[in-house]
Amino acid sequence: MQVEDIRPEGWACTYLIENEGKAVLIDPVWDYMSHYQSILADRDLELLACMATHTHADHITACFSLSQEQGVPFYMWKDTASLGVTHYVDENTNLTLAGVDYSFHHVPGHTSDSMIIAIPGHIFTGDFLFNGGAGVGRDDLPSGRLQEHWDSIQSLGHLSDDVLVCSGHEPPGTELQTLGWNREHNPIMTMKRFDEFVVWQNETAEKLGSVSKIKTALPANLFAEIPEHIPWLSR
Ligand SMILES: [Fe+2]
Repeated sequence: MQVEDIRPEGWACTYLIENEGKAVLIDPVWDYMSHYQSILADRDLELLACMATHTHADHITACFSLSQEQGVPFYMWKDTASLGVTHYVDENTNLTLAGVDYSFHHVPGHTSDSMIIAIPGHIFTGDFLFNGGAGVGRDDLPSGRLQEHWDSIQSLGHLSDDVLVCSGHEPPGTELQTLGWNREHNPIMTMKRFDEFVVWQNETAEKLGSVSKIKTALPANLFAEIPEHIPWLSR
């Protein structure tokens, strides 16, 4: 089995899980559909499924488009408000795709439908958890909740130190780290009190400012419709 971040540019990570000539995509971005399709074709891979760790606000997911075009399942957490999902997962879902076992853990906070996707040796954390100093994703966007995020961070005891944290956003070239490393070095994982987390999140949200693509990307993801006009692609 091979896991690879195949984003062509930008900070949003897209993971390809490849095994036995078959592939699963986690958090693909609609802007890069042709990039993914050429990777699949070049490597002679059959796409089995797409998954989204949560309803994204910063990009249009490619999950519903790939699902419709290629006739593959689109998996999301069971309570998501997003349309276009063909298969809902929960804590009891156990999937095997191309010989790789998948399980799912609800970690609300960044969004109410955030989940960790776990496969052997790796967890895909979306914006629930980043590597190192980047901490975690913001909680001031639709369905974000600080207390839920904090509680979700405290709920990871069952996960091994050894798993690699494959997060939803990292600066290009970032070396991914294990959960054990993050337990020692991630400022949120070492934090003791909820009020410290609130201060950290408020300061981070202020630094980040508004999400530039949210007014186009979020409705597209909720309604599973590609808008006629996509501002960042029509310059
Ligand atoms: Fe997000």
